[in-house]
Amino acid sequence: MNMIENKTVIEKFLYPNKVVVLTGAGVSAASGVPTFRGKEGLWKKYSPEELANPRAFIAQPELVWEWYLWRRKLISKVKPNFAHYALVDLEEMNSNFTLITQNVDNLHREAGSTYIIELHGNLMKNRCFDCNKSSTADVRLENGVPLCDNCGGLIRPDVVWFGESLPLQAFQSARIAANESDLFISVGTSGLVEPAASLPFLAKARGAYIIEINTEETPLTSQSDLFVQDSADIALPDFIKQIKLVINN
Ligand code: OAD
Repeated sequence: MNMIENKTVIEKFLYPNKVVVLTGAGVSAASGVPTFRGKEGLWKKYSPEELANPRAFIAQPELVWEWYLWRRKLISKVKPNFAHYALVDLEEMNSNFTLITQNVDNLHREAGSTYIIELHGNLMKNRCFDCNKSSTADVRLENGVPLCDNCGGLIRPDVVWFGESLPLQAFQSARIAANESDLFISVGTSGLVEPAASLPFLAKARGAYIIEINTEETPLTSQSDLFVQDSADIALPDFIKQIKLVINN
């Protein structure tokens, strides 16, 4: 089934039902942002796991920054795609809607989504490795990694790394939303990184209807009520078309 065409499913979307969408790197794939675990996920010879962790940063801060500056440059050139815009429409169509993202690329915000729970931080922001103070330091690396003006610690990207906890407030809000959801849509995520991966299962345990949109099967697929094997930038606009048909009939 490529289209979400079941009327009962569409009705689950409608207010006052609580709708939660969890997005991952697959949502930005059509914008040209490489996914983490796809063919283009490697930078030089490194996997994200090798670089996106505090030990790697302490050992080789300039190498880790070099990777993030490469990603910043890449992201500064890309634009949101139909999947991001469809999620803006969905937010407008149901006032009981929550968008949770693992993406750090800022594209949901750029598309116009207003309320976004960013579980893994934001690639375009910096903070201090030691005292966490936000920083607007210009990271260029010619003179090494900039230091915090508060404590002298190393400035790092404001993203969550492997082995680190998620921002407490963000994860709590995400858990509450998942617990309360009637419809939970997981889009473009491999579901391999905890604790985000547990959110659809939490929703399912509370009786939510689970839709998964992904080009490939994941650990969630067999637990989903509906698996839409399609690209997010096609499946999400299709979903909106189907909802509008139901609303107008
Ligand atoms: P992954 O790279 O692990 O997974 C991307 C998923 O998107 C895969 O399941 C693909 O099959 C799917 N996909 C690819 N193209 C798609 C498309 N056009 N439409 C729909 N689905 C598509 O990325 P995430 O699941 O987001 O964490 O990874 C989770 C976290 O691991 C990331 O937030 C990041 C990473 O390490 C941190 O940086 C902390």
